[in-house]
Amino acid sequence: MRVKLVKTYIPGLDEVLGGGLPRPGVVYLVGHTGTGKTTLCAQILYERAKRHGEKGLYICTSEHPSLLISRLKSMNIDFEKLVENNLIEVAYGTPISEKNIVTTLLEEVLAKVETGEFSNIALDSITSLVNFIPVVKVRSILGSLYKHIIDKRLLGILVGEISLTGKSPTVGVEEFMCDTIIKLEQYERAEGYTLRLVVLKNRVAGHSRAYYEISITDKGLEVLAPFKP
Ligand SMILES: Nc1ncnc2c1ncn2[C@@H]1O[C@H](COP(=O)(O)OP(=O)(O)OP(=O)(O)O)[C@@H](O)[C@H]1O
Ligand SMILES: [Mg+2]
Repeated sequence: MRVKLVKTYIPGLDEVLGGGLPRPGVVYLVGHTGTGKTTLCAQILYERAKRHGEKGLYICTSEHPSLLISRLKSMNIDFEKLVENNLIEVAYGTPISEKNIVTTLLEEVLAKVETGEFSNIALDSITSLVNFIPVVKVRSILGSLYKHIIDKRLLGILVGEISLTGKSPTVGVEEFMCDTIIKLEQYERAEGYTLRLVVLKNRVAGHSRAYYEISITDKGLEVLAPFKP
């Protein structure tokens, strides 16, 4: 199977990744709260749709889609326009029970992936699933999602959350299964905190191992210079 590196078009990120993200491939985008996980994956889906006409599927489990869409618009990520042009679908699946996740959220996602109309999909986030269903079941769900994403030659982005209290619920396989890992962190300084990014793995590209400072403004997320402690 031929794997292509596709550009994210996030300023500064493709160079750090060693060219882009592998497709077919699955990215594990993990980080603390408020560090830009949602912005990063929404911006990738937006740029790929706008520049290449690729249809994206964005599944949010923790944020109401109308709030998400208006918030993204303040950063120039216009999902409304993409929806009008049939270039994005935003699916909202709040995990409220095990039955709801398995029968509605996951089955719908797999059915959508099966249609072959999507090129890029994001699941924001997988962490919330762990709170509702046994970890072994989440593992098999992610395994099945991974297989579907690769078989259909998509780029998949799975978002994971790191808790500020230290202990984060994990599935235990996501970091080994995924082809790329991007980690976003809050870094505390005396005067406050800065945001930084590191690529921990990118299976088919020679990526940088350095930390980079990032900024989030009304123009979206940007990767800046190497991070200085
Ligand atoms: N229009 C904007 N201009 C500047 N910064 C913004 C703007 N909108 C959001 N931000 C910044 O982006 C941060 C949130 O980014 P985002 O929601 O992508 O993070 P996240 O990691 O997904 O957070 P969560 O843990 O809540 O899911 C905010 O804390 C804020 O600092
Ligand atoms: Mg988020």
